[in-house]
Amino acid sequence: MEPATRQLVYVTRNPSPELSSRFRDRGWHVDVVESARDVRRAVRAGSTAGGLLDLASRFQPHEIVTFESCLTMPNVGWVAATTAGQLQDASLRRLVRDYCFDYVTMPWTGERVVDSVGHAFGMVELGEPASNESTTGAEGEMVGSCDAMLALFRSIRKVAMTDAPVFISGESGTGKELTAVAIHERSARRNAPFVPINCGAIPPHLLQSELFGYERGAFTGANQRKIGRVEAANGGTLFLDEIGDLPLESQASLLRFLQEGKVERLGGHQSIPVDVRIISATHVDMQTAMIEGRFRQDLYHRLCVLQIDEPPLRARGKDIELLARHMLERFRKDASRRLRGFSPDAIAALHNYSWPGNVRELINRVRRAIVMSEGRAITARDLELSEYVEIVPVSLAQAREAAERQAIELALLRHRGRLGDAAQELGISRVTLYRLLCAHGMRHMEGDLGHQGGDLPASVPHL
Ligand SMILES: Nc1ncnc2c1ncn2[C@@H]1O[C@H](COP(=O)(O)OP(=O)(O)OP(=O)(O)O)[C@@H](O)[C@H]1O
Ligand SMILES: [Mg+2]
Repeated sequence: MEPATRQLVYVTRNPSPELSSRFRDRGWHVDVVESARDVRRAVRAGSTAGGLLDLASRFQPHEIVTFESCLTMPNVGWVAATTAGQLQDASLRRLVRDYCFDYVTMPWTGERVVDSVGHAFGMVELGEPASNESTTGAEGEMVGSCDAMLALFRSIRKVAMTDAPVFISGESGTGKELTAVAIHERSARRNAPFVPINCGAIPPHLLQSELFGYERGAFTGANQRKIGRVEAANGGTLFLDEIGDLPLESQASLLRFLQEGKVERLGGHQSIPVDVRIISATHVDMQTAMIEGRFRQDLYHRLCVLQIDEPPLRARGKDIELLARHMLERFRKDASRRLRGFSPDAIAALHNYSWPGNVRELINRVRRAIVMSEGRAITARDLELSEYVEIVPVSLAQAREAAERQAIELALLRHRGRLGDAAQELGISRVTLYRLLCAHGMRHMEGDLGHQGGDLPASVPHL
């Protein structure tokens, strides 16, 4: 017995009562529509539907192209019904090839059509869960499920409970700013301002006045009083981004502020008490900066009471794929055609590449690939990572590690994350397997692998 909730969007000028009743008998709810606008109205947001596009029912070519926007809807599995003659038309062939799971040509049997649409519906349900908040990925959400990211999420929650200064270090594009915002939003200061300042981007001679503000007449051109960023953050969080690039003279004034909790505007004589929580971040190696005398040790120790390290993307194991799929969901509307996901060579390249630009680079590559891709799946070439499809490990130790990782991954996928069964197949104890999972940062693979073959899980793990 088929579930009674499946929806069929039947696009036609000439509905077949016989076909509609056959669908109903198989548990479908049938909506007969004629235009692209009706399709968009009929398909309920967030739920999956089957679509039958009856091109043989007196639609003109200029009308058919208007359906292209509906054919890209991620939650509808389409089947086209055409005449053999219509398929001579190149643009119609392209439409069918790019967007439909299947097509039937006249004379078709009702049974064949119902089966095909059922299959298309099933494919959409399998591969691309109906979009909801967590899969479409609200901007600002931190996605991650590897051990390193789970540890990061725990740290964020813990440091959010306190008022102590936090120092975030990590390579470029790893998510330092996202982390700072996450801490603020989970802290008691969440309703007060979060004020970022990029210490590296402001010319050194303007930095003092940006940070602390000035009084009217403090210098030529100071026509009115200006509140500095530190004061603007009163009650909230001040995010000192790229703190490693802060010039030495500003370091002295910042240290004074941290010691006294008061600011003095340039040209002012008053000390104004300010209550801010300080979060700072940098990709600079601070130990070297201190040894070389570019950064004051006393300031560093004030700023770095609690430390958070952002893991580089290359150390996040399966998360690389998770993030790539997440970004594809978020930006798939930019695609000119319906994209099914990533090809196996793209997945291999995602893992082999070393990601110097980390998550930011991943986002850019996926976005570019979405626009440039000419097939149904994003390939390594679309990601401009063709040369990373096959990487020969440089040392024997690396080769062993990669083989061990792959064997574990495959065993877990085959046994849907069940440790006992996977361990048995690998000929090791459960305890050893667990230890290896920890060592490879693969603990997220344990347990609920409901999505073999790996499309986006129903709910993306996130903070
Ligand atoms: N875990 C994550 N999940 C989803 N998006 C992420 C994640 N980490 C980072 N991003 C995204 O990657 C981009 C870069 O993040 P962010 O600006 O926080 O990095 P950063 O470490 O401050 O980079 P930089 O050193 O270049 O300033 C942003 O678009 C951010 O939303
Ligand atoms: Mg940043």
